[in-house]
Amino acid sequence: MQQTPTTKFGDKGRDKFMNGKNTLLEVKNLRTYFDNKEGLAKAVDGVDFEVEKGETLGVVGESGCGKSVTSLSIMNLVPQPRGRIESGEILFHSNGEVVDIASYPPHSKKMREIRKTYLAMIFQDPMSSLSPVYTIGSQIMEGIQLRHNVSKKDARQRAVEMIQRVGISPAEQRIDDYPYQLSGGMNQRAMIAVALASNPSLLIADEPTTALDVTVEAQILDLMMELQEEYRMSILFITHDLDVIGEMTDRVIVMYTGKVVEIGSVQDIFYNPLHPYTQGLLKSIPKIGRHKELSPIRGSVPQIYNLPDHCHFAPRCPERMDICTSEDPPVFNVGENQQAKCWLYDEKGGDR
Ligand SMILES: Nc1ncnc2c1ncn2[C@@H]1O[C@H](COP(=O)(O)OP(=O)(O)OP(=O)(O)O)[C@@H](O)[C@H]1O
Ligand SMILES: [Mg+2]
Repeated sequence: MQQTPTTKFGDKGRDKFMNGKNTLLEVKNLRTYFDNKEGLAKAVDGVDFEVEKGETLGVVGESGCGKSVTSLSIMNLVPQPRGRIESGEILFHSNGEVVDIASYPPHSKKMREIRKTYLAMIFQDPMSSLSPVYTIGSQIMEGIQLRHNVSKKDARQRAVEMIQRVGISPAEQRIDDYPYQLSGGMNQRAMIAVALASNPSLLIADEPTTALDVTVEAQILDLMMELQEEYRMSILFITHDLDVIGEMTDRVIVMYTGKVVEIGSVQDIFYNPLHPYTQGLLKSIPKIGRHKELSPIRGSVPQIYNLPDHCHFAPRCPERMDICTSEDPPVFNVGENQQAKCWLYDEKGGDR
């Protein structure tokens, strides 16, 4: 039996999902396009994945591969007027009901209600989600009162605790500050407190700690994991930092030019990556500690306009075969829980 590494990963009890599925979100054949002056940008081009309740799903891939657009699509906040969800489903399960987020107009009452009650998103730029005209305390309290039937006094007490927990001090004073009175790092932490205050069912974290120093980052990540345990929140975690992926996530999806090229458990992705792109990514990103020498993936990410109908990674792929430049590979199941969109795993193929 293959030895499971025990040192690299946080002890989140990640096998908890093996005992039956409990799906929160299903993204099915999602396509999100932009009409840019360069042409049609297929930023998300037929993406499929699921997020289980209580799970952290990591999303990795080079810049421009569609990570943020995938998360904005789930929020139904694709930038207008150029962007739109072209097709596909974003099925969100709650209280025995399944709603298709993709089917609602972005500003409809129902969509606003779903967003406010169940979803939260944190970004690299805190000012994109904090309101400049309310104190951070009132923004946190709003979230607390939305989900918990508590008095204003209790909500304020909880807000003070949240502010302490994200490392802003002295919390009793800072609670009445407006965002402009706080530094960039403090606002980052305040935004995270606001997002977590409403105990969302799904937290989308898009490079949430990139701007923070490592000590604060560690505090914030611990807080996210604590709250996840407390409230069984699911997290979609986008980051370039593979150490954070190892620490935080249960499963990982790897994206390239708007498509998912590999999905697997965090162990499989790190120790048995299937797709040549995943293999290249692991070798090219610093901080992972397992590769002594970094070797960048040769070539660069193509512009996403007028891409061919075959594998988009083929021009950069060290394992390229003839079929790779003539036919687009389907997604192959390899093992029980790992999938790769790569002709190498076509068992019928043989040498091509
Ligand atoms: N607001 C926008 N207007 C027009 N096109 C956009 C917009 N946002 C994204 N795109 C297009 O979608 C593609 C994917 O962008 P996205 O922001 O999802 O990449 P990403 O994977 O999040 O990259 P990064 O790691 O740099 O954050 C971009 O290359 C661009 O062509
Ligand atoms: Mg992004």
